[in-house]
Amino acid sequence: MSGGPVVLKAEGLSKRFGGLLAVQNVSFSQYAGEILAVIGPNGAGKTTLLNLLSGVYRPTSGRLELLGEDVTEKPIEYRCHLGLGRAFQIVRPFPEMTVHENVTVGALFGKRGKTLSAAREEAYDLLERTGLAPQADKAAHELTLLQDKRLEVARALATQPKVLLLDEVMAGLRPAEAQEAVALVRSVQGSGISVLFIEHIMPVVRDLADRVVVMDQGQVIAEGTYREVTANPQVVAAYLGTEAELHA
Ligand SMILES: Nc1ncnc2c1ncn2[C@@H]1O[C@H](COP(=O)(O)OP(=O)(O)OP(=O)(O)O)[C@@H](O)[C@H]1O
Ligand SMILES: [Mg+2]
Repeated sequence: MSGGPVVLKAEGLSKRFGGLLAVQNVSFSQYAGEILAVIGPNGAGKTTLLNLLSGVYRPTSGRLELLGEDVTEKPIEYRCHLGLGRAFQIVRPFPEMTVHENVTVGALFGKRGKTLSAAREEAYDLLERTGLAPQADKAAHELTLLQDKRLEVARALATQPKVLLLDEVMAGLRPAEAQEAVALVRSVQGSGISVLFIEHIMPVVRDLADRVVVMDQGQVIAEGTYREVTANPQVVAAYLGTEAELHA
């Protein structure tokens, strides 16, 4: 999987909150078509890193390239139009709008000059693809947790990303549901989208990730295949005494 064009390149990214370096000198590359997992114990800096990638935060130092372009100082919308999509750890659809309307908003946001009817049609296709078509006319707040996660992915896909960032979209799912979500991410990859995901559920990481980046206390402590990083003594030590199961 490595080799080929780089879609995301982080060089020495850091983010300081007051006295805390939540992300410290993080560098990695993601290659086109690759599924890259970012793992690490609670508070390791994973979500902060994703916020740096998507443009929610500007880095305290470091540089970020998206699809060959320096986007370090670019806002969220610019990165989105360039091809970066994101689903959030805390799902936040518009609760009173229908499922279909929520995805339509994503489709309208992704591309300038799209007509409402084209966006509505596209949104419906995405609902079919993510298994949400039966819920199309329900209000978003009526969804189950699994359906919520699907909606979050559908909304991110609606912006037509080339790179999709997912923050714990499997959290709280039952194993069978997580397997469905794994299949959805695989199909996203199959359509040519590179996926970077944060995940605590190790079987999901094992099944999905081409490569794994491990963070602890803001830093990258290991990088490699699932087998390589889970055999790494520094990674094992970082997980000791945490609730996360490293070998699931
Ligand atoms: N906006 C903020 N202001 C101050 N500190 C923050 C902020 N966001 C995160 N932090 C701190 O930065 C550190 C990294 O947090 P982050 O949310 O990135 O971790 P995480 O790896 O995503 O954890 P989890 O697995 O629990 O989601 C933590 O110590 C957290 O308390
Ligand atoms: Mg997090």
